[in-house]
Amino acid sequence: MRMTELIQKKRDGHELTKSEISWMIDNYTNDQIPDYQMSAWAMAVYFRGMTKTEIADLTMSMVASGVQIDLSEISGIKVDKHSTGGVGDKVTLILAPLVASFGVPVAKMSGRGLGHTGGTIDKLESIHGFQVEQSQTDFVKQVKEIGISVIGQSDDLVKADKLLYALRDVTATVDLIPLIASSIMSKKIAAGADSILLDVTVGSGAFMKNIDDARLLARTMVDLGNAVGRKTIAVITDMSQPLGTAIGNRLEIAESLAVLQGGGTADFRHFIAEIAQIMLSLAGLEKSIDEILANLSNGAALAKFKALITHQQGDFDELVNTPIHETKFSKIVKSQKSGYITAFDALAAGKLAMSAGAGRAVKSDSLDLDAGIHIFKKIGDKVAIGDPLFQIFYNKETFDVVTESQILLDNISISDEKISINDILEII
Ligand code: URA
Repeated sequence: MRMTELIQKKRDGHELTKSEISWMIDNYTNDQIPDYQMSAWAMAVYFRGMTKTEIADLTMSMVASGVQIDLSEISGIKVDKHSTGGVGDKVTLILAPLVASFGVPVAKMSGRGLGHTGGTIDKLESIHGFQVEQSQTDFVKQVKEIGISVIGQSDDLVKADKLLYALRDVTATVDLIPLIASSIMSKKIAAGADSILLDVTVGSGAFMKNIDDARLLARTMVDLGNAVGRKTIAVITDMSQPLGTAIGNRLEIAESLAVLQGGGTADFRHFIAEIAQIMLSLAGLEKSIDEILANLSNGAALAKFKALITHQQGDFDELVNTPIHETKFSKIVKSQKSGYITAFDALAAGKLAMSAGAGRAVKSDSLDLDAGIHIFKKIGDKVAIGDPLFQIFYNKETFDVVTESQILLDNISISDEKISINDILEII
């Protein structure tokens, strides 16, 4: 087989066979196909798309390119969860201990943030001492012992995706539904859970900017998971405004802790409970929203969170007893209008947090774990002139806070009419 023939076949709109796809992924992973040929294929996919069969074959070839985690030693139905990314998305930090508090084992591998989107692993690392790396044996052992482990994705998992994702990032081929679906699902399948909950975000702060694309991505991934015997459900969630009230690593840990201590906003707690309900049902457990909310206020989910932090060498006492984020500078931005908030643009908020130091523009950037934004008002809230809208925390002397925060302010709309939006838009 020759890669030029496969590029040509895709370029001309034909379907590649299973053996062609498997040959291509094997050889790319083993350095036998150069980046320039692989990027030509990815660009051909951009223009020609892929059939369902091709996407499934690509996904399973990617799974086979690295190690696969065996969770069979852990009893019960293991449920994994994945978000396609967003701004202020700290769902895993609350959801994982909440679900584990009902006795459902959570063995979760998470990622880092890039650009305006945050990552669970960076947030967990902002807890002093917390270790995100674990051998497969220790990962399984911890879940057997305390019912929960959240670690960074092992380097050996889906090697082809590491290479291909980095290549897509620099060849304008990230935003392709067949490639996003196979990238995400190959990692979820290789990570070994029996059931998978996918949170497909849609809106300015997400990869998917409109509901039709989100639906197509969700459907493609659900079909992939179910086809290989992993019960898969997708929720499409709103990411037109940031999730919750905090953006930034330690700020989001603080918000998560507040929710696990029975606090946080009622809307956010309810959203988490709804997602937990679906995740629990994937594990065969039917619980009411009230029963789930009870575990957020009675200390059960908090106890699981404490066990998780402590087992992975994090300093839980310091987290609970000391103010966990401190910056040299902060600025409160106030409303210049009165009315109701009708837009609070997630992308603008994510970019502001990133330029304040909370995010990375490129993978090698280091993070300011204390930097970020606290949001006082969200869509549907009433504001008067002079009410605080958001507060920005930063340490960088060079950060032009006036200009940068004005950009977010320009992306917040206030009008006389109250609107409301649902966090969960659809379930697929
Ligand atoms: N997240 C992934 O893991 N892969 C993609 O291709 C896009 C988002």
